[in-house]
Amino acid sequence: MTRHFLRDDDLSPAEQREVLELAATMKRDRFAARPLEGPKSVAVIFDKSSTRTRVSFHVGISELGGSPLIIATASSQLGGKETAADTARVLERQVAAIVWRTYAQAGLEEMAKGTTVPVVNALSDDFHPCQLLADLLTMQEHKGELAGLTVAFVGDGRSNMGQSYLLACATAGMHVRVGAPAAHAPVPEVVAAAQAIAAETGGSATVVHDASAAVSDADIVVTDTWVSMGKEDEKAERVATFGEFTVDQALMAEAKHDAVFMHCLPADRGFEVTADVIDGPQSIIWDEAENRLHAQKALLTWLLERADA
Ligand code: CP
Ligand code: NVA
Repeated sequence: MTRHFLRDDDLSPAEQREVLELAATMKRDRFAARPLEGPKSVAVIFDKSSTRTRVSFHVGISELGGSPLIIATASSQLGGKETAADTARVLERQVAAIVWRTYAQAGLEEMAKGTTVPVVNALSDDFHPCQLLADLLTMQEHKGELAGLTVAFVGDGRSNMGQSYLLACATAGMHVRVGAPAAHAPVPEVVAAAQAIAAETGGSATVVHDASAAVSDADIVVTDTWVSMGKEDEKAERVATFGEFTVDQALMAEAKHDAVFMHCLPADRGFEVTADVIDGPQSIIWDEAENRLHAQKALLTWLLERADA
């Protein structure tokens, strides 16, 4: 049966490992796999802005032998005149997969329910699972075996990144701590799901409301913008609320001495992270950004192997 990737826990721990192994292999031999030869097309739809996601899917689909069909929602019928389900029924007869960056997670679920081809979440208000595959690949390259490592996500715990960190890192058997203001904590359903997965994988998932408690002795420190796409009207209030959660050198000093710093980008230097940290020697953000390409090529290949003919 066709598989979709709408949230991080759509891959089991063993499946996540398979995709990450495939990503590492594809990174070593970048032009060897061509599952989209034909060329088959993949639709990549954007309701929100993007640099990394757009470039990495365009380049990745091309490198897999396929043809990327990049659609800006505002210039399509989706959202205004046509439902996600109807859009999916039209696309599935012409494309091999649908990748969609959108607002509500429910839209992705509707798209997936209405189609026979894999649907991939390229960021929603709730999750950013493609980013997490890239982040896990990057951590593995810098830190080795993921299981047992401690990762701290500091900032907007209710954001797509905060919530994806919980699910993806628990799946990898890591100890994941989210440090966020109480008003911006991850939703309880996601925390409970991460804790249930962690109980199986030997990891753990905790939420604290103190940045120091989150990063203490961590192997990896992560943050993201305090003002996610769609939240621009709340910027002043958010900057006031998140002030204690800036990742600066003093906070990094509370993590392990060889801790690395990650950020999915785009970054607001001086807000969620200081320039000396994000541009400093502990930062691995450029590897992280590159790995979107390799991780997504592996994910698409893995999903295409399992899609209904
Ligand atoms: N990290 C990330 O998804 O970046 P873009 O918004 O540029 O795609
Ligand atoms: N949390 C950010 C991620 C951007 C890639 C946002 O949703 O805007």
